[in-house]
Parts: sequence; C-alpha cells; structure tokens
Amino acid sequence: MAVWSLWSLLLWEALLPMAIASAQVQGQVGGSALLAADHPPGFQVREAIWRSLWPSEELLATFFRGSPETLYHSRFLGRAQLHSNLSLELRPLEPGDSGNFSVLLVDKQGRARSQTLQLKVYDAVPRPVVKVFIAVSGEAQPPKTCQAFLSCWAPNISDITYSWRREGAVDPAMEPGGLFTDGQVLRVSLGPGDKGVAYSCIVSNPVSWDLATVIPWESCHRQAAPGRASYKDVLLVVVPVLLLLILAGLSAWHWGPWSGKKKKDVCADEVDQETESPLV
Ligand SMILES: *[C@@H]1O[C@H](CO)[C@@H](O)[C@H](O)[C@H]1NC(C)=O
Ligand SMILES: *[C@@H]1O[C@H](CO)[C@@H](O)[C@H](O)[C@H]1NC(C)=O
Ligand SMILES: *[C@@H]1O[C@H](CO)[C@@H](O)[C@H](O)[C@H]1NC(C)=O
Repeated sequence: MAVWSLWSLLLWEALLPMAIASAQVQGQVGGSALLAADHPPGFQVREAIWRSLWPSEELLATFFRGSPETLYHSRFLGRAQLHSNLSLELRPLEPGDSGNFSVLLVDKQGRARSQTLQLKVYDAVPRPVVKVFIAVSGEAQPPKTCQAFLSCWAPNISDITYSWRREGAVDPAMEPGGLFTDGQVLRVSLGPGDKGVAYSCIVSNPVSWDLATVIPWESCHRQAAPGRASYKDVLLVVVPVLLLLILAGLSAWHWGPWSGKKKKDVCADEVDQETESPLV
C-alpha cells in the first residue's frame, strides 16, 4: 500500500507544472548542510518526499503516515537526517555531494508543493604560500626604495579568489593597477617608510578563507647584499626548469605504458627481496 502511494506521489510531482521555489545551499567538506523544507503557515504537512535529482536520481527520505524514513539506498545512506520540521540534514559532507535536490510536500487537504534546492560543497581553502620577487631595488646600501612582486599561491580548488591587504594601513584595499593574474600577483613600491609593512594574501571561497603574511622589505634588504639572486637571475633559473619539466611531462606521457611496466617490475623486485630475506 505505502509503496503504491509513494509511486503515485512521485507521479504527481512529475505532473506538477514546475517547482514553486528554488534555493541554494552551501556546505564545507566534513561539515553539514541543512536543506530546508519551507511551507506557508497554514500548510499542515501530511507527507514529504526528499529526492536527489542530479547527479543521480535517488530517493533520500520520506515522511509518511507520521513516520520518517531515511534508510534508502542512496549515496547519503547513513548521512541523512530528517528533522521534525521535515528539513533534511546531510552530514558529514563529502566532496562529491554537490547536486540538485527536491522536496515534495503534501498537506492534509491534498495540496502539493514542490521545491528544488541546489547544494554546493566546497573544500576548505588551504593556507596560501606567498613569495617575494624583487624587481628593482635602490642602489644605495642599504637600499632606499624597492619594487617587489608578491605572488600568492594556493592549490587549484574551485571558486577560489585572491585578495591582498596592507597591514596597518588606513585604507587596506590594494589599488587594482598593481594586481595581475586575477589577484595572484601584487606589485608594490616600497620606500624607507615601509620597512615594517606587512602584506597579507587572503584566499577565500564561499565557505572558508585563510591568509599568509610577508614583510617584503626584508627581501629587498637581503637582495641588496652581494651574491644574492636578483629578479632576472630568478627568471634565468625558472624558465629552463619549467622547460625541463614540460619536456619531462611530455616524454612521460609518450612513454607512459612502458615506464608503467618498468615501475611494476621494480615493485615486484622489492616484494621478492622482502619475502626472501627471512630465509637468508
Ligand atoms: C528545522 O529544524 C532544524 C533542526 O532542529 C533547524 O536547524 C532548522 O532551523 C529548522 N527550520 C527550518 C526551516 O529548517
Ligand atoms: C541544478 O539547479 C540549478 C539551479 O536551480 C540549475 O541552474 C541547474 O541547471 C541544475 N542542474 C541540473 C543538472 O539539473
Ligand atoms: C583549475 O581547475 C579548473 C577545473 O577544476 C581548470 O579548469 C583550470 O584550468 C585550473 N587552473 C589551473 C591554473 O590549473
């Protein structure tokens, strides 16, 4: 009986002209997401069906004849909790949990309401790495002026944004003219008054942020010392190394299956040695 009613409800949802409302929910890997089942005050819920629409179509939870049920074979099995207000909580969130969901509510008079929700799950951003490259420093010893490029790097995860802050400044926002490659590189001009000035790179996504701070003047000072690598020297090293890496990548790709076999043989040798050693 219950199964039949479920099917007819799902059919009903398919026949509804369109979802009444749609909402976006954001969550962090390892955290939780609350998918809220909203309904007007006069709407007394008798039945509810939560489904995943995309990337896979699955039944997640139902509320039927007064009893909640979440033990359906879905990717959220064991991670879904149906609250008494019929909101669905998913925890802990995993990286692949982003997707679209729907809830169908039916009230005591048989009126139906359907909502869709979009869940986006993000990784927490890791701490960025900031490097200082000195472009020009004053000839004087110690230098009086210094131009530097600050580069900020964080692993490529989705929806990450970069911004910079000059610590202790009245207006900490950076002039856009000094920013390159989507804010990952900042150009700064430093004078003697900027000795102790710290710059922070802030990386953020919709659910988290982190920062790293440097005092570029320290690098200007160091760079001025004899025997130090200059900005141009750094390029002289970086460009050939990059070329080598690209070449290595290309040849690894080209010889992929062959080198894979070689690797396997090495593993086998190691295993043999290990199993033999007790006999020796
Ligand atoms: C429903 O219940 C949950 C858990 O008690 C609560 O966090 C949430 O705010 C409630 N309301 C809605 C609209 O989801
Ligand atoms: C998921 O929902 C969003 C927002 O409602 C919509 O733009 C998107 O096309 C949906 N994705 C799929 C695959 O249905
Ligand atoms: C970062 O990842 C996205 C997809 O996740 C890709 O489209 C983009 O090219 C990557 N960017 C870099 C700089 O690797």
